[in-house]
Amino acid sequence: MAQIFHRSANAIARASIYGFAFIVAGALLTGYLLARSPYRTAEEVIRDQPVAFSHEHHVSGLGIDCRYCHTTVEYAASAGMPPTYTCMSCHSQIWNQSPALAEVRQSLEQGRPIAWTRVHDTPDFVYFHHGIHVQKGVGCVECHGRVDKMPLAWKAESMTMEWCLDCHRNPAPRLRKQEDIFNLASPRLSESEGQQLVQAHNIPVDRLMNCSVCHR
Ligand code: HEC
Ligand code: HEC
Ligand code: HEC
Ligand code: HEC
Ligand code: HEC
Repeated sequence: MAQIFHRSANAIARASIYGFAFIVAGALLTGYLLARSPYRTAEEVIRDQPVAFSHEHHVSGLGIDCRYCHTTVEYAASAGMPPTYTCMSCHSQIWNQSPALAEVRQSLEQGRPIAWTRVHDTPDFVYFHHGIHVQKGVGCVECHGRVDKMPLAWKAESMTMEWCLDCHRNPAPRLRKQEDIFNLASPRLSESEGQQLVQAHNIPVDRLMNCSVCHR
């Protein structure tokens, strides 16, 4: 059969096949990086809130404990959000004319909760439980960063599956003493002290990576 294509066509065909492979690989890599980028995971994005509540003011400035507002964090799945009367225990006297607190006063008058915008929102197919972490030595700062320095709350960590697994694989070096759980400036335990805590708390490290721990 007569040669239809010139020999150089082989080179061009090869080049375009390789070129296509490169484009596909490039697209996949971009997709992969985007899916894990702070843009997609909404890390460090400050959300609009109905009231400009500042953790920096209330936690660092006034020294209020997390549990005063997030009352169920030590034993329940959800940390809990403060009802309006928790704010009004102070703000019925302090700054009670401030326009910045108008929404808080209205919420109390109308008997409806303040509609805070969620900063963290794990998908429904993921099971998370605050109580178990707090009881086993995982401090708030490990997952939420320095909330006490945030004028408006943002997400400090990606909260992706890889991020959860990174700790579940070996939690020992990321644990704290029980009295330091709520102290965001506290240090982690040393590796060996961490290992002791893993023993003392009976943390089942051999099964913390099972899919069914978080997908049940
Ligand atoms: C005086 C009450 C108060 C105290 C004390 C307080 N918080 Fe909050 N917290 C709030 C309110 C109100 C919100 C909702 C507004 C916002 O997201 O900024 C919130 C939101 C948060 C969020 C984001 C929740 C979400 O939407 O995903 C985190 C995380 C958080 N608090 C952690 C802490 C930690 C850690 C401490 C202790 C160091 C603490 N808070 C102390 C009132 C409080
Ligand atoms: C092991 C990681 C981890 C630790 C430790 C942790 N949190 Fe969270 N927190 C999360 C995750 C994940 C969410 C999102 C839960 C969801 O979307 O259902 C969350 C959500 C929250 C919320 C929003 C309300 C809710 O429960 O969904 C508040 C408030 C909060 N955390 C406060 C705290 C405080 C206070 C501490 C320390 C006592 C703490 N967290 C410790 C991972 C953690
Ligand atoms: C233990 C008392 C106390 C509690 C509880 C409390 N606050 Fe405050 N809040 C204060 C004080 C004191 C200030 C003034 C802080 C400063 O300027 O140094 C303040 C300031 C504020 C401001 C700024 C006011 C302005 O005009 O700039 C807002 C907004 C606010 N608080 C919202 C809230 C909300 C929302 C809650 C409930 C989730 C809450 N506070 C709970 C004591 C409290
Ligand atoms: C900094 C360390 C750390 C991070 C980050 C972390 N965990 Fe954990 N997790 C632990 C430890 C420690 C335990 C305690 C295990 C035990 O003793 O049962 C635990 C237990 C759990 C349990 C209960 C397991 C059981 O006993 O059935 C669930 C569910 C869980 N984690 C989900 C998550 C999810 C989802 C994330 C990410 C959003 C996450 N964890 C991030 C350390 C961590
Ligand atoms: C420590 C908790 C944890 C364990 C263990 C875990 N996952 Fe996940 N998984 C998550 C979280 C959190 C997300 C949501 C991530 C996000 O929103 O970006 C997730 C998301 C997923 C998704 C959705 C796709 C994606 O990547 O977002 C799949 C599929 C999945 N997990 C499968 C598995 C399988 C299979 C296993 C066992 C080999 C497993 N997971 C073990 C926490 C966990």
